[in-house]
Amino acid sequence: MPTVVSGIRSTGNLHLGNYFGAVKNFIEMQHHHPTFFFIADLHSLTTHPVPDHLYVNVRQVLAEYLACGIDPEKATVFIQSDVPEIAELYLLLNMNAYIGELERTTSFKDKVRQQPDNVNAGLLTYPVLMAADIIIHKAHLVPVGKDQEQNLEMARTFARRFNRMYDVELFPIPRPYVFEGKDMVKIPGLDGSGKMGKSEGNAISLADAPEVIRKKVMRAVTDSGPTELNQQKPEVIQNLFTLLDVVSEPDVVAHFDKCYNECTIRYGDLKKQLAEDIIRFTSPIRERIEEMIADEVYLSKVAKQGAEKARASAVATLKEVREVIGIKKFY
Ligand code: TYM
Repeated sequence: MPTVVSGIRSTGNLHLGNYFGAVKNFIEMQHHHPTFFFIADLHSLTTHPVPDHLYVNVRQVLAEYLACGIDPEKATVFIQSDVPEIAELYLLLNMNAYIGELERTTSFKDKVRQQPDNVNAGLLTYPVLMAADIIIHKAHLVPVGKDQEQNLEMARTFARRFNRMYDVELFPIPRPYVFEGKDMVKIPGLDGSGKMGKSEGNAISLADAPEVIRKKVMRAVTDSGPTELNQQKPEVIQNLFTLLDVVSEPDVVAHFDKCYNECTIRYGDLKKQLAEDIIRFTSPIRERIEEMIADEVYLSKVAKQGAEKARASAVATLKEVREVIGIKKFY
C-alpha cells in the first residue's frame, strides 16, 4: 500500500490555497493509505519567527488541520520538530546536495528577493529538509499544490541519488499526487499577482471572520470590464473565476461566465456572491477551529500520539540509512 507524506509550514493560518491545493487531498487519502501529515515548524525558522509566535502558530495549524477533517485516528498527525531523526537525515542528505542545484531553485531565488537581508543557509537547503521529511517515511505519494512541484522534484533527485550512491533501493522515488488524476492545483491570490500565499498578504484564511472575508473579496483587483463578446479573461478576472470554481455551485459559475461573455457582468455582484460562497464554505471549519484551539488537552494528546507513531517510522528508516552509509557503533 503506497505511503503518503505531506506537510504545511507553520508560518500562519491555513488559507484557501492550502485547503484546495493540499489539505482536501489529505482528507481523501487518509481513508485509503497509510498517511503522515505534519506541521513543518523547522521550515518556518527560515523566516526567524519570534519564539512565542512559533508555538502559537504550530498550535493554530494543528487545530486547523483537525478542523478541516484530518482524523488523527486514521492519519499520523505530528509536528516536525518532535521527530529529531528528520534533522539527522537532513544533515546526511546535505552531504550529497550540491550548492549549484540548490541555488538554481525558483523558490530559493524568490526568497532571496523577498528577504534580501536574511538569506540564510536554511533557505538554501530548504528542499533538502523537505526531502528528509518525505523519504524518512519511505513515502510514495506526496499531495502538494503546484507551487511545491520543484521542491518535490528535488526530493526525487535526492532519493534517487542516495539509492544510486550506495547501490541500494532504500527509498522509493516519491511522486506528487492529486486526486482523480487532475493537474496540481494553484489557487490564485486576490491581488492579481499569482498564487495565494501566507507571505504574500493576499490570502483568505479558513479562520477569517465573515466580515474580514467580505472586505478582502470586495477589495480584489479587477479591470474595467469586457468590451468584446466571448473575449478571453485577463489573469485578474480569471483568478476570481478560479476561486468561484472551487467554492460555488456550477450554475453560479456558469451564470457569471455567461454574463462575462455577453459583456453584462458586474464585478460587484460576482464579488458579493464569491464572498458569500467562501463564507458558506469556511464557516463550519472556522467554528471547529475555535473549538479545537480551546481544547488544549485534546491537542496535546493528538501531538503526542502522532509524535510516537512518526518517530517509530523515522527511527526504523534512519537505522537503515546509518548502516548503508557505514556509520557503525564501536561499543
Ligand atoms: P506551504 O506551507 O506553503 O503550503 C502547504 C501546502 O499548501 C499548498 N499551497 C497551495 N496550493 C495551491 N494554491 C496555492 N495558492 C497554495 N498555497 C499553498 C502547497 O503546495 C502545500 O502543498 N515546503 C512546504 C511544506 C513542506 C512539505 C514538506 C510539503 C515541508 N516539508 C514535505 C510536503 C512534503 C510549504 O512551504 O508548503
